[in-house]
Amino acid sequence: MPPKMNYVETALAGLWLMVPALVPNSAAVLLGGGRPLDLGRSWRGRRILGDGKTWRGFAGGAVCGIGVGVLQIAATEAWDLGEAWTFGPWPSSLGIIICLGIGSMLGDSMGSFVKRRLGVGRGAKAPGLDQYNFVIGAVLLVVVLDFSWFQVHYMEGNAVWGLVALLIVVPALHRGVNIVGYRLGRKDVPW
Ligand code: CTP
Ligand code: MG
Repeated sequence: MPPKMNYVETALAGLWLMVPALVPNSAAVLLGGGRPLDLGRSWRGRRILGDGKTWRGFAGGAVCGIGVGVLQIAATEAWDLGEAWTFGPWPSSLGIIICLGIGSMLGDSMGSFVKRRLGVGRGAKAPGLDQYNFVIGAVLLVVVLDFSWFQVHYMEGNAVWGLVALLIVVPALHRGVNIVGYRLGRKDVPW
């Protein structure tokens, strides 16, 4: 990444590169339902994950995130966007978007696991956890598999603005999408 890249651009690039991790959450709301991931089982008197985490939601969410990522890879090539906007050379770019899509849904499930352990019911609010669980999951999986990618795009120099942008934009986006889901009758609560 060019060291002197403008911080507004790095912030926008940081958001763009996290799109494959942001899409799965909304896609899961639209595609979810059916058999729960925990198969209805409990642990220590509480559901492991709860009825809000389903196989269809997990798979549908991850596939949509990866699908959008593939379109983004094509777009960055077609529009010849700079280094900061790319997921890296093919096929490692595919590896990154797969991590982001699956990591997002893993983080979402982990968030519900933590909520259930704390005695927070399915669909009840867990401020912070609800807004960031999927990004945390995606980032952790990417960091484990390709730390240098995360370092270049979110840590070094101006790239840190990408991380700041995520921290600010993600909760707002999450709230907006949930209000839309509520109005469409896909969610019981607007959060
Ligand atoms: N969803 C799903 N499968 C997933 C994730 C989400 O089917 N793996 C669907 C469910 O219908 C869920 C809705 O998307 O109710 C909203 O997701 P979320 O807010 O993450 O779940 P909650 O119902 O709030 O449950 P929790 O308290 O466990 O977060
Ligand atoms: Mg919820």
